[in-house]
Amino acid sequence: MTKRALITGVTGQDGAYLAKFLLDKGYTVYGFVARRSSDTRWRLRELGIENDIIYLDGDLADACSVQRAVITSKPDELYNLGAQSFVGSSWDQPVTTGIVDGIAVTHLLEALRQFSPHTRFYQASTSEMFGLIQAAHQDENTPFYPRSPYGVAKVYGHWITINYRESFAMHASSGILFNHESPLRGIEFVTRKVTDAVARIKLGKQQKLHLGNIDAKRDWGFAGDYVEAMWLMLQQEQADDYVIATGVTTTVRDMCKLAFEHVGLHHEDHVVVDPKFFRPAEVDILLGNPAKAQRVLNWQPKTSLKELITMMVDADLRRVTKE
Ligand code: NAP
Ligand code: GDD
Repeated sequence: MTKRALITGVTGQDGAYLAKFLLDKGYTVYGFVARRSSDTRWRLRELGIENDIIYLDGDLADACSVQRAVITSKPDELYNLGAQSFVGSSWDQPVTTGIVDGIAVTHLLEALRQFSPHTRFYQASTSEMFGLIQAAHQDENTPFYPRSPYGVAKVYGHWITINYRESFAMHASSGILFNHESPLRGIEFVTRKVTDAVARIKLGKQQKLHLGNIDAKRDWGFAGDYVEAMWLMLQQEQADDYVIATGVTTTVRDMCKLAFEHVGLHHEDHVVVDPKFFRPAEVDILLGNPAKAQRVLNWQPKTSLKELITMMVDADLRRVTKE
């Protein structure tokens, strides 16, 4: 029998890659989408799957629409990827972020508990929960110390997922994913901001790139590799929590260097540090230990940062050339 998956955030970076991954496996894919006044399906079009998804209208903040989506789709697997996911905006919209990224996880879990208790649930947890890191390599046992309203909301989502697993024996897992990027990354995130600017500078359409804290370090992987880990978690007999990361950390500065070097330019000639992009509280460094995912899920990252940044710069060169 064909399996049915419901994905919240299907129009986002991870939602698009996951939908493609599941469609390729023969799943029927339902996408829970919030109405927007302008087009949000460009990623699904780029992957050639826009017409292969069954769309269900709703908003994570609206428990009724969440219930309706669960009842309509009767999913075998529910992937909760929907979120206000930009850390910077979470200080501007702290309450919305708290509701959508935190409380709304309970809307989903309650809908499953009442109407579809056998559905397997995936929660998109995040390395932002580690924030002010309490261990050099962060794993599933490292205490959390979130540094943004986004991180705080995600800690709620993480623990309510564990709580429903323990209270109601639900198959509910959290993936604690470290930063993952791709050509489908939103332009506000630093990797894509950099690769888009590199393409524009190379093609003579821009001179400078204004960035914030370029000393921050992140453990960056490829989104295409990471969605496989989400699926693997839901194929396990027991639900559990897993860190998904590469185990390598790099400064924003060195990531820029890679991007500029790929087109024969020097980042020092173009990058301007601009206090406007500094955050009220920063996560200085993230470095994950994915040993448990490697051991239990047999998962490992396949794409190096250099390959990832090359792929992103090349995609942006093609896009900017077409403009
Ligand atoms: P993204 O590209 O920003 O996608 C977020 C998705 O959520 C979009 O489809 C967005 O729809 C949807 N959404 C936002 N508010 C909603 C609401 N109120 N109701 C329903 N849908 C809503 O994020 P991503 O990078 O794919 O990340 C996917 C998930 O993983 C997020 O939960 C994120 O917090 C988490 N995560 C991401 C990373 C990473 O490095 N990418 C790492 C760890 C965890 P619109 O486009 O229409 O707004
Ligand atoms: N966005 C952005 N723009 N970040 C900048 C800039 C800039 O101009 N200059 C420096 N940075 C630094 C940020 O201060 C941060 O330390 C780092 O680059 C990465 O920023 P983002 O790419 O915005 O990602 P993030 O780490 O804050 O959050 C992403 O990863 C989380 C997982 O750790 C998002 O995808 C979150 O949704 C995800 O949970």
